[in-house]
Amino acid sequence: MRAFQLSRIGIPPTLTDIPVPDPGPGEVRLKIAACALNFADLLQQEGKYQEHPALPYTLGMELAGVVTALGPGMQGPAIGSRVAVFGTHGGLAEQGCFPAERCLPLPEAVGFEQAAALQIAYGTGHLALERKARLQPGETLLVLGAAGGVGLAAVEIGKRMGARVIASARGPERLEIARQAGADITIDSDAPDLRGALKALGGVDLVYDPVGGEAFTEALRATRPEGRLLCIGFAGGTVPQIPANLLLVKNLSVIGLYWGGYLSFAPAALTESLSTLMGWLAEGAITPHVSHRLPLERVAEGMELLRSRQATGKVVILP
Ligand SMILES: NC(=O)c1ccc[n+]([C@@H]2O[C@H](COP(=O)([O-])OP(=O)(O)OC[C@H]3O[C@@H](n4cnc5c(N)ncnc54)[C@H](OP(=O)(O)O)[C@@H]3O)[C@@H](O)[C@H]2O)c1
Repeated sequence: MRAFQLSRIGIPPTLTDIPVPDPGPGEVRLKIAACALNFADLLQQEGKYQEHPALPYTLGMELAGVVTALGPGMQGPAIGSRVAVFGTHGGLAEQGCFPAERCLPLPEAVGFEQAAALQIAYGTGHLALERKARLQPGETLLVLGAAGGVGLAAVEIGKRMGARVIASARGPERLEIARQAGADITIDSDAPDLRGALKALGGVDLVYDPVGGEAFTEALRATRPEGRLLCIGFAGGTVPQIPANLLLVKNLSVIGLYWGGYLSFAPAALTESLSTLMGWLAEGAITPHVSHRLPLERVAEGMELLRSRQATGKVVILP
């Protein structure tokens, strides 16, 4: 079977023929139907991500498929059942073995592609906005990088939670996608003076930042007293330095959130959040936007779409 494998850091991963794996204790084997790409896949290839699986390994962090075999002594999930798999690697392949405890049953109304696209982006937005920042109806939420995977999900979840959502992204087409996801106001991230534009809108209560760099600092300066800032990622490449004096003077809170971190200290929080999100997806209350669907042989092209900032929402590989 084919798998998109990373064999050395800094050398581009390749589609490689490997034997079909057998599930070990506690594992299930899946025929993989869909795997969504993440910015973190790019970071992993460069050795810049916080998780470092032993090499060689198959990339692909969020996936969905059909159970085809169970490890020794296991009673379920049933062979033939449709599941999503979260918080792992190995999704960019035709088949793979995964811990059963990371499998979530798919509601009938949820397709493989949407299930794969949902997990990390919406999981991050949900935990960040609800559990960590406690976003309230009527608050003003600023989402940076709002046309990307996690950004667009935060726009949709923020709107669903009753916030007034300001979306910042690059160029009119990407801003239109943020508007379709529910943004009330959009700001082109290429325009000068983000701080001035936000102040003219009355400032913000909560910042959701997957980009980092200068945008974070500008947003911080436009945050209202008692505002909060969620540090989600640094897609722009620069980790912002936080002026603690401004936090003090304006009574601000900076909040970090690493979705995958919950796997080690509170995995139930992830399972609970993802089950809620699967329910919303089944009801049609949220709709992950997928800009590109590609077969496994074009996965490198999919990675390049993310790297060159051409993708909006998610890129999904359909093995
Ligand atoms: N904390 C967590 O648990 C968590 C979970 C998932 C992802 N993340 C992080 O969140 C960030 C975004 O992830 P993603 O999967 O949503 O990525 P993505 O789909 O590629 O979106 C990133 C967005 O950032 C914007 N951006 C601004 N400057 C950029 C630059 N120099 N290079 C690339 N993008 C730039 C781009 O929008 P414009 O082109 O419109 O500016 C792009 O749409 C990453 O840093 C990722 O590691 C964190």
